[in-house]
Amino acid sequence: FAFADLSLREASKDFMVGVAGASHRFGDEAYMNALKEFNTMVAENGCKLSGIQPQQGVFDFTDCDAHLAKAEENGMKFRGHCLIWFNYQPQWFQDIKGYDNMKNTIVEHVTQVLTHYKGKIDTWDVVNEAIEDESTGENGTWELRDTFLSRECPDFIDIAFKTAREVDPNVKLFYNDYDIEGIDIRQGKKTNAVYNFVKDMKERGIPIDGVGLQYHLHTEPGKTVKYENVMETMERFGKLGLEVQITEMDVNCVKGNTEEEFALQAQLYGDGLRACLDSPYCTGFLIWGVGDSDSWRTDGYPLIFNKDYTPKPAYYSLINVLKDH
Ligand code: G3I
Repeated sequence: FAFADLSLREASKDFMVGVAGASHRFGDEAYMNALKEFNTMVAENGCKLSGIQPQQGVFDFTDCDAHLAKAEENGMKFRGHCLIWFNYQPQWFQDIKGYDNMKNTIVEHVTQVLTHYKGKIDTWDVVNEAIEDESTGENGTWELRDTFLSRECPDFIDIAFKTAREVDPNVKLFYNDYDIEGIDIRQGKKTNAVYNFVKDMKERGIPIDGVGLQYHLHTEPGKTVKYENVMETMERFGKLGLEVQITEMDVNCVKGNTEEEFALQAQLYGDGLRACLDSPYCTGFLIWGVGDSDSWRTDGYPLIFNKDYTPKPAYYSLINVLKDH
């Protein structure tokens, strides 16, 4: 496969079509050619707390800045990911004990990062993956994930969002999570739980502007989501007055060597983008990595470019959806 006559960026007519970039790959020409197909970048890792605050109180924006500069150099917009997350955190953060200490640490991190990027990054995932995977989500319920954050500071989410709004009122504030794309996944329990959770935030006046559907799928049965169910999810969140974005799409092909699997992968990518374009509530579509060799999913072929950055059927599927829209 060769690249299409129109790039994704050209075919997008300025709708946000983005990709997670990684600064250690910026020197590779084939990587950069594929990256530049997109009109938006998010740092796969560079803007996380683990990179920005490797030691408590020591802020280092070098790598996040490098991602932002590369985006600007290539005429791309930039999305912020992510301020507060429980997973893969530095030990010092996980070891914090006591409500006030945890609260102050969260306030300090959010304040430092949003101050540094004021006027430069207009959308941030403020909190990532805070709802329990097995949350039942029925009758207005949800359960917070049991982590060092929720144990020490049960209202850490409210604190993070309120701080972010105070520091920079012009930034769009997102809650981001996986397995919430549609009722096909986890029998709809987690998507219901997150729905109830963000509805409650809205009702209590906590500043939140959007929900990120990470959209990590597999080609295996039971791990995909239907277009109409994604549309329904977007509408549910949308009717709460929230935007929705597909923030981290990939579709793992574990076998990866069959035409059928790549065709299904292409169809699922196309369905995701089509839902996002068709839904009045969806404002952005982003993929979690450039080529198959870059993915966090090291056991498969989840992205739209091969390991050598030649396009896969999924790339053409996205181009066609954009052209038809
Ligand atoms: O850069 C270091 C390298 O210097 C070191 O030698 C090596 C040894 O382990 O680690 C390298 O850092 C790794 C980094 O990825 C870059 O490859 C980290 O260990 C590894 O933990 C990190 O994983 C990332 C993970 O988030 C944790 O931050 C993945 O790349 C990234 O794709 C993944 O992204 C998450 C989203 O943020 C949230 N949603 C789920 C998604 C997938 O897990």
